[in-house]
Amino acid sequence: MRKTSLFEAVLPFTLLLSPFQQAFASETTAAELRKVDTVAHRGASGYAPENTIAAFDKGVDMKADYIEIDIQRSKDGKLVIIHDTKVDRTTDGTGYVKDLTLEQIRSLDAGSWKGEQFKGEKIPTFDEILDRYHGKIGILMELKSPELYPGIEEMVAQELKERNLDKPQNEKIIIQSFNFESMKKINSLLPKVPIGVLTSNRADTTEQALREFASYADYFNPSYGIVTEELVNQVHANGMKIQSWTVRSHEAAEFLLNMNVDGIITDYPDFVDPRN
Ligand code: G3P
Ligand code: CA
Repeated sequence: MRKTSLFEAVLPFTLLLSPFQQAFASETTAAELRKVDTVAHRGASGYAPENTIAAFDKGVDMKADYIEIDIQRSKDGKLVIIHDTKVDRTTDGTGYVKDLTLEQIRSLDAGSWKGEQFKGEKIPTFDEILDRYHGKIGILMELKSPELYPGIEEMVAQELKERNLDKPQNEKIIIQSFNFESMKKINSLLPKVPIGVLTSNRADTTEQALREFASYADYFNPSYGIVTEELVNQVHANGMKIQSWTVRSHEAAEFLLNMNVDGIITDYPDFVDPRN
Protein backbone atom coordinates (compact mmCIF):
# COMPACT_ATOMS: atom_id res chain seq x y z
CA MET A 1 0.00 0.00 0.00
CA ARG A 2 1.39 3.41 -0.95
CA LYS A 3 2.12 5.53 2.09
CA THR A 4 0.42 8.92 2.22
CA SER A 5 2.92 11.69 1.67
CA LEU A 6 3.37 14.17 4.47
CA PHE A 7 2.26 17.00 2.21
CA GLU A 8 -0.97 15.29 1.17
CA ALA A 9 -1.89 14.27 4.68
CA VAL A 10 -1.23 17.35 6.75
CA LEU A 11 -1.81 20.26 4.39
CA PRO A 12 -5.59 20.70 4.89
CA PHE A 13 -5.18 20.46 8.64
CA THR A 14 -2.20 22.75 9.06
CA LEU A 15 -3.79 25.59 7.08
CA LEU A 16 -6.16 26.10 10.02
CA LEU A 17 -3.30 26.61 12.49
CA SER A 18 -0.99 29.44 13.54
CA PRO A 19 2.57 29.38 12.14
CA PHE A 20 3.88 27.95 15.44
CA GLN A 21 1.16 25.32 15.55
CA GLN A 22 1.84 24.51 11.90
CA ALA A 23 5.50 23.90 12.62
CA PHE A 24 4.69 21.69 15.58
CA ALA A 25 1.91 19.83 13.78
CA SER A 26 4.06 18.91 10.80
CA GLU A 27 6.93 17.84 13.10
CA THR A 28 4.53 15.80 15.16
CA THR A 29 3.18 13.88 12.24
CA ALA A 30 6.30 13.31 10.16
CA ALA A 31 7.60 10.08 11.72
CA GLU A 32 4.12 8.91 12.61
CA LEU A 33 2.64 9.18 9.12
CA ARG A 34 5.58 7.40 7.59
CA LYS A 35 5.36 4.72 10.27
CA VAL A 36 9.08 4.78 10.92
CA ASP A 37 10.22 2.80 13.93
CA THR A 38 12.46 4.76 16.25
CA VAL A 39 15.22 2.59 17.70
CA ALA A 40 17.12 3.89 20.72
CA HIS A 41 20.70 2.91 19.87
CA ARG A 42 22.42 1.27 22.88
CA GLY A 43 19.43 2.87 24.66
CA ALA A 44 18.91 6.63 24.40
CA SER A 45 22.69 6.83 24.48
CA GLY A 46 22.86 10.52 23.62
CA TYR A 47 21.38 11.21 27.05
CA ALA A 48 22.62 8.41 29.30
CA PRO A 49 25.56 5.96 29.32
CA GLU A 50 25.17 3.48 26.45
CA ASN A 51 23.96 -0.06 27.12
CA THR A 52 22.93 0.64 30.74
CA ILE A 53 19.54 0.50 32.43
CA ALA A 54 19.62 4.31 32.61
CA ALA A 55 19.87 4.50 28.80
CA PHE A 56 17.28 1.79 28.17
CA ASP A 57 14.81 3.34 30.65
CA LYS A 58 15.35 6.66 28.93
CA GLY A 59 14.49 4.99 25.61
CA VAL A 60 11.23 3.75 27.16
CA ASP A 61 10.49 7.20 28.62
CA MET A 62 11.10 8.75 25.22
CA LYS A 63 8.61 6.33 23.68
CA ALA A 64 11.02 4.74 21.26
CA ASP A 65 9.66 1.66 19.49
CA TYR A 66 12.78 -0.39 20.19
CA ILE A 67 15.93 -0.34 22.29
CA GLU A 68 19.06 -1.67 20.60
CA ILE A 69 21.44 -3.80 22.69
CA ASP A 70 24.87 -5.37 22.06
CA ILE A 71 25.30 -8.89 23.40
CA GLN A 72 28.63 -10.46 24.39
CA ARG A 73 29.72 -13.14 26.89
CA SER A 74 31.77 -13.20 30.09
CA LYS A 75 34.63 -15.61 30.82
CA ASP A 76 32.28 -17.76 32.91
CA GLY A 77 29.61 -17.92 30.23
CA LYS A 78 27.08 -15.23 31.14
CA LEU A 79 25.55 -13.05 28.42
CA VAL A 80 26.19 -9.35 29.07
CA ILE A 81 25.30 -6.09 27.32
CA ILE A 82 28.22 -4.00 26.14
CA HIS A 83 29.34 -2.63 22.78
CA ASP A 84 33.15 -2.78 22.74
CA THR A 85 34.96 -6.10 23.08
CA LYS A 86 36.99 -4.41 25.86
CA VAL A 87 35.49 -2.69 28.91
CA ASP A 88 38.02 0.18 28.87
CA ARG A 89 36.07 2.94 27.08
CA THR A 90 32.78 2.72 28.99
CA THR A 91 33.81 1.56 32.47
CA ASP A 92 36.46 2.09 35.14
CA GLY A 93 37.93 -1.32 34.36
CA THR A 94 40.23 -2.74 31.76
CA GLY A 95 40.46 -5.87 29.60
CA TYR A 96 38.43 -7.97 27.22
CA VAL A 97 34.85 -8.86 28.15
CA LYS A 98 35.62 -12.50 27.30
CA ASP A 99 38.47 -12.56 29.87
CA LEU A 100 36.43 -11.20 32.80
CA THR A 101 34.03 -13.14 35.03
CA LEU A 102 30.49 -11.93 35.55
CA GLU A 103 31.41 -10.89 39.09
CA GLN A 104 34.29 -8.78 37.77
CA ILE A 105 32.09 -7.26 35.06
CA ARG A 106 29.29 -6.45 37.49
CA SER A 107 31.70 -4.71 39.85
CA LEU A 108 32.56 -2.10 37.18
CA ASP A 109 31.14 1.42 37.05
CA ALA A 110 29.60 1.80 33.57
CA GLY A 111 28.08 5.24 34.19
CA SER A 112 30.64 7.75 35.45
CA TRP A 113 32.36 8.22 32.09
CA LYS A 114 29.14 9.83 30.84
CA GLY A 115 28.55 12.01 33.92
CA GLU A 116 28.74 11.93 37.71
CA GLN A 117 24.96 11.53 37.94
CA PHE A 118 25.29 8.07 36.34
CA LYS A 119 27.91 6.79 38.77
CA GLY A 120 27.21 3.19 39.75
CA GLU A 121 25.38 2.14 36.57
CA LYS A 122 26.27 -1.45 35.84
CA ILE A 123 26.80 -3.53 32.72
CA PRO A 124 23.45 -5.33 32.45
CA THR A 125 23.01 -9.05 31.81
CA PHE A 126 20.96 -10.29 28.85
CA ASP A 127 18.38 -11.99 31.06
CA GLU A 128 17.99 -8.79 33.10
CA ILE A 129 17.17 -6.89 29.90
CA LEU A 130 14.72 -9.50 28.65
CA ASP A 131 12.89 -9.63 31.98
CA ARG A 132 12.78 -5.87 32.42
CA TYR A 133 11.80 -4.81 28.89
CA HIS A 134 10.07 -7.55 26.95
CA GLY A 135 6.46 -6.60 26.36
CA LYS A 136 7.29 -3.01 27.30
CA ILE A 137 9.36 -1.98 24.27
CA GLY A 138 10.79 -3.75 21.22
CA ILE A 139 14.31 -5.14 21.55
CA LEU A 140 16.74 -5.06 18.63
CA MET A 141 19.45 -7.48 19.72
CA GLU A 142 22.86 -7.35 18.12
CA LEU A 143 25.23 -10.27 18.50
CA LYS A 144 28.48 -8.31 18.76
CA SER A 145 31.54 -10.15 17.42
CA PRO A 146 29.89 -13.60 17.83
CA GLU A 147 33.01 -15.19 16.32
CA LEU A 148 34.67 -14.55 19.72
CA TYR A 149 31.97 -16.52 21.52
CA PRO A 150 31.43 -20.01 20.07
CA GLY A 151 27.93 -21.26 20.87
CA ILE A 152 26.52 -17.83 21.74
CA GLU A 153 23.70 -18.34 19.22
CA GLU A 154 22.42 -21.40 21.13
CA MET A 155 22.61 -19.48 24.41
CA VAL A 156 20.60 -16.56 23.05
CA ALA A 157 18.05 -18.95 21.54
CA GLN A 158 17.70 -20.74 24.88
CA GLU A 159 17.09 -17.49 26.81
CA LEU A 160 14.36 -16.52 24.33
CA LYS A 161 12.72 -19.94 24.38
CA GLU A 162 12.58 -19.92 28.19
CA ARG A 163 10.44 -16.79 27.94
CA ASN A 164 8.38 -17.89 24.93
CA LEU A 165 9.95 -15.08 22.94
CA ASP A 166 10.71 -17.39 20.04
CA LYS A 167 7.08 -17.28 18.88
CA PRO A 168 5.74 -15.25 15.95
CA GLN A 169 3.36 -13.08 17.98
CA ASN A 170 6.40 -11.47 19.62
CA GLU A 171 7.03 -9.28 16.62
CA LYS A 172 9.04 -6.66 18.41
CA ILE A 173 12.14 -8.74 18.73
CA ILE A 174 14.81 -8.70 16.05
CA ILE A 175 18.26 -10.32 16.14
CA GLN A 176 20.98 -8.74 14.00
CA SER A 177 24.72 -8.93 13.39
CA PHE A 178 27.53 -7.96 11.07
CA ASN A 179 28.40 -11.68 11.12
CA PHE A 180 26.18 -13.23 8.43
CA GLU A 181 27.05 -16.85 9.24
CA SER A 182 25.94 -16.25 12.81
CA MET A 183 22.60 -14.90 11.55
CA LYS A 184 22.08 -17.94 9.33
CA LYS A 185 22.59 -20.06 12.43
CA ILE A 186 20.15 -17.97 14.47
CA ASN A 187 17.63 -18.31 11.67
CA SER A 188 17.84 -22.10 11.87
CA LEU A 189 17.62 -22.08 15.69
CA LEU A 190 14.83 -19.50 15.84
CA PRO A 191 13.02 -19.70 12.50
CA LYS A 192 10.19 -17.43 13.63
CA VAL A 193 12.28 -14.59 15.01
CA PRO A 194 13.07 -11.78 12.54
CA ILE A 195 16.74 -11.57 11.54
CA GLY A 196 18.73 -8.51 10.47
CA VAL A 197 22.03 -8.19 8.65
CA LEU A 198 24.23 -5.19 9.39
CA THR A 199 26.67 -3.66 6.93
CA SER A 200 28.38 -0.47 5.89
CA ASN A 201 29.82 -2.11 2.80
CA ARG A 202 28.45 -1.13 -0.61
CA ALA A 203 29.49 -4.54 -1.94
CA ASP A 204 26.63 -5.95 0.15
CA THR A 205 24.05 -3.88 -1.74
CA THR A 206 24.13 -5.64 -5.12
CA GLU A 207 20.96 -7.34 -6.29
CA GLN A 208 22.67 -10.71 -5.90
CA ALA A 209 23.78 -9.96 -2.34
CA LEU A 210 20.33 -8.71 -1.35
CA ARG A 211 18.69 -11.83 -2.79
CA GLU A 212 21.05 -14.00 -0.73
CA PHE A 213 20.33 -12.01 2.47
CA ALA A 214 16.60 -12.30 1.82
CA SER A 215 16.87 -16.09 1.95
CA TYR A 216 17.33 -15.89 5.74
CA ALA A 217 16.97 -12.27 6.84
CA ASP A 218 13.97 -10.00 7.31
CA TYR A 219 15.91 -6.76 7.75
CA PHE A 220 18.79 -5.28 5.80
CA ASN A 221 20.29 -2.69 8.16
CA PRO A 222 22.96 -0.45 6.60
CA SER A 223 24.87 2.56 7.88
CA TYR A 224 23.14 5.67 6.52
CA GLY A 225 26.17 6.61 4.41
CA ILE A 226 25.27 3.93 1.88
CA VAL A 227 21.49 4.48 1.86
CA THR A 228 19.89 5.66 -1.37
CA GLU A 229 16.28 5.68 -2.52
CA GLU A 230 17.19 2.96 -4.99
CA LEU A 231 18.65 0.77 -2.24
CA VAL A 232 15.52 1.18 -0.11
CA ASN A 233 13.36 0.15 -3.08
CA GLN A 234 15.60 -2.85 -3.82
CA VAL A 235 15.49 -4.01 -0.20
CA HIS A 236 11.70 -3.74 -0.21
CA ALA A 237 11.47 -5.50 -3.57
CA ASN A 238 13.38 -8.39 -1.99
CA GLY A 239 10.76 -8.60 0.76
CA MET A 240 12.95 -7.18 3.54
CA LYS A 241 12.64 -4.08 5.71
CA ILE A 242 15.42 -1.57 6.24
CA GLN A 243 16.56 0.10 9.45
CA SER A 244 19.52 2.45 9.23
CA TRP A 245 22.10 3.78 11.71
CA THR A 246 23.48 5.71 13.49
CA VAL A 247 21.61 9.01 13.57
CA ARG A 248 23.30 11.65 15.69
CA SER A 249 22.09 14.80 13.88
CA HIS A 250 18.79 16.31 12.76
CA GLU A 251 20.09 16.32 9.18
CA ALA A 252 20.73 12.58 9.21
CA ALA A 253 17.26 11.95 10.68
CA GLU A 254 15.65 14.09 8.00
CA PHE A 255 17.64 12.35 5.28
CA LEU A 256 16.50 8.89 6.40
CA LEU A 257 12.90 10.02 6.84
CA ASN A 258 12.99 11.20 3.23
CA MET A 259 14.52 7.90 2.11
CA ASN A 260 11.43 6.09 3.44
CA VAL A 261 13.33 3.59 5.58
CA ASP A 262 11.35 1.44 8.00
CA GLY A 263 13.40 2.20 11.09
CA ILE A 264 15.92 4.76 12.27
CA ILE A 265 18.52 3.70 14.82
CA THR A 266 19.55 6.76 16.80
CA ASP A 267 21.27 7.94 19.96
CA TYR A 268 18.61 10.71 20.09
CA PRO A 269 15.06 9.35 19.69
CA ASP A 270 13.68 12.89 19.73
CA PHE A 271 15.53 13.68 16.48
CA VAL A 272 13.29 11.13 14.72
CA ASP A 273 10.07 11.85 16.55
CA PRO A 274 10.17 15.33 18.13
CA ARG A 275 7.33 14.50 20.51
CA ASN A 276 9.68 12.27 22.49
O1 G3P B 1 22.14 -1.22 15.30
C1 G3P B 1 23.13 -0.83 14.44
C2 G3P B 1 24.41 -0.42 15.08
O2 G3P B 1 24.36 -0.69 16.43
C3 G3P B 1 25.60 -1.05 14.49
O3 G3P B 1 26.78 -0.44 14.89
O4 G3P B 1 28.85 -0.30 16.17
O5 G3P B 1 26.81 0.77 17.05
O6 G3P B 1 27.02 -1.70 17.08
P1 G3P B 1 27.38 -0.42 16.38
CA1 CA C 1 24.96 -2.27 18.05
